[in-house]
Amino acid sequence: MAINLLLGLQWGDEGKGKIVDVLTAGYDIIARFQGGPNAGHTLEFEGRKHVLHTIPSGIFHEDSVNIIGNGVVIDPVILSKEIAELTPYNLDIEHRLLVSRKAHLILPTHRLLDAASEASKGKAKIGSTLKGIGPTYMDKTGRNGLRVGDIELPDFMERYRALVEKHINMLGNYGVQIDYDIEELEKEWFAAIDVLKTLTFIDSEHYMNTAIKEGKKILAEGAQGSMLDVDFGTYPFVTSSNTMAAGACTGLGVAPSAIGEVYGIFKAYTTRVGSGPFPTEDFGEDGEKMCMVGREYGATTGRRRRCGWLDIPQMKYACALSGVTQLMMMKADVLSGFDEIKVCTHYMYMGKKIDYLPYNIEEQYLTPVYTTLPGWSEDLTGVTDQNALPENLKSYIAYIEEQLGVPVTIVSVGPDRTQTIMRG
Ligand code: GDP
Ligand code: IMO
Ligand code: MG
Repeated sequence: MAINLLLGLQWGDEGKGKIVDVLTAGYDIIARFQGGPNAGHTLEFEGRKHVLHTIPSGIFHEDSVNIIGNGVVIDPVILSKEIAELTPYNLDIEHRLLVSRKAHLILPTHRLLDAASEASKGKAKIGSTLKGIGPTYMDKTGRNGLRVGDIELPDFMERYRALVEKHINMLGNYGVQIDYDIEELEKEWFAAIDVLKTLTFIDSEHYMNTAIKEGKKILAEGAQGSMLDVDFGTYPFVTSSNTMAAGACTGLGVAPSAIGEVYGIFKAYTTRVGSGPFPTEDFGEDGEKMCMVGREYGATTGRRRRCGWLDIPQMKYACALSGVTQLMMMKADVLSGFDEIKVCTHYMYMGKKIDYLPYNIEEQYLTPVYTTLPGWSEDLTGVTDQNALPENLKSYIAYIEEQLGVPVTIVSVGPDRTQTIMRG
């Protein structure tokens, strides 16, 4: 039995939360493998909307076990708020939400360091969500971090104090003024650690490998998107983890041979929140319309998302990095009413026409080359059968399948769980 894997192919916010929720009914275990509360995964069902940051998107299905893997970084304060928001649903979180002892903890001072780092960069800032992600992964790879399992050790307080002291010294080196009340922050953090302790801590790599042997059905849930991958994304404007398929192996402690289907999820157009290159960004009416109709504002920070057309070389790159076996097209409904659909097929790069993503993708080097397909005007939000989709949308899907050599098996036509068309 294999682990199926779902990940974003663009710059995040593709609709991963919605699809994980839709697919969970067929799985025993849903496991997040990287990222932290920089993620905002939105689920909508029965007239309710819910945004998850750290908790896997399978949590609303009572039969599923949800795992926060070792590759995730956890802010206890945000996690405890997420748990509190789930109270009305009576979900037996204590037993259904399992946390890897090897997951790293985001300290209040990691958030302060994130803020100081961004402020010191001025115009060159990454546009971080300021959740302390970068500094926490730096402490992980720098071998200074605190992990969930450390909470159970007798010298946890000493380790905490030593790290905080180090952080406070570092803060002084950024040359920017960051105001904070450490006592207040620590009061909140330790109260949240008490909430975290009510959850079940596990050695997740053992748990996962036993589950695989027992033939459990497992879905791994990615956060962010392929273009935010720390190695292969638009560095340095990326996050600090591997968002590609390989990240699921290191973030859960499972072998590459355990990975089965790789679901690559993408919007019918492209968005990006935060700074950094975005070749197909549309600064005109089309981008504005996508933002308005698609309600493109971040689920974590509320920031406006930058919008533009689908980028085939970028999508090919993301599919190759992760070995995507099935594609899921989200927000097809948002493109209803465009006379023409533009698709980037190539780039002009230093005077040459190329069909791959080169090292330098900043606009001074790279200009997208588009082809144009006919649009459609029908409202899709009530469509449930793929045969009822407009012919021009079917052609758009067929075009993407042909270009990427991967079938589109789900088309999403609205934010609700029910607005999901399976193409089988
Ligand atoms: P994630 O981070 O990948 O889980 O995605 P987000 O939740 O950050 O952003 C996706 C946004 O699009 C959310 O507001 C969803 O409710 C919404 N959404 C998801 N699928 C669709 C869809 O097919 N159509 C429309 N109109 N909205 C969608
Ligand atoms: P989900 O899982 C979209 C972006 C930030 C910033 C960069 C670095 O909801 O798709 P960080 O906080 O990691 O230091 O930010 O990455 N970013 C996301 N953009 N969706 C996300 O998550 C993101 N998580 C981080 O905007 O540009
Ligand atoms: Mg999101």
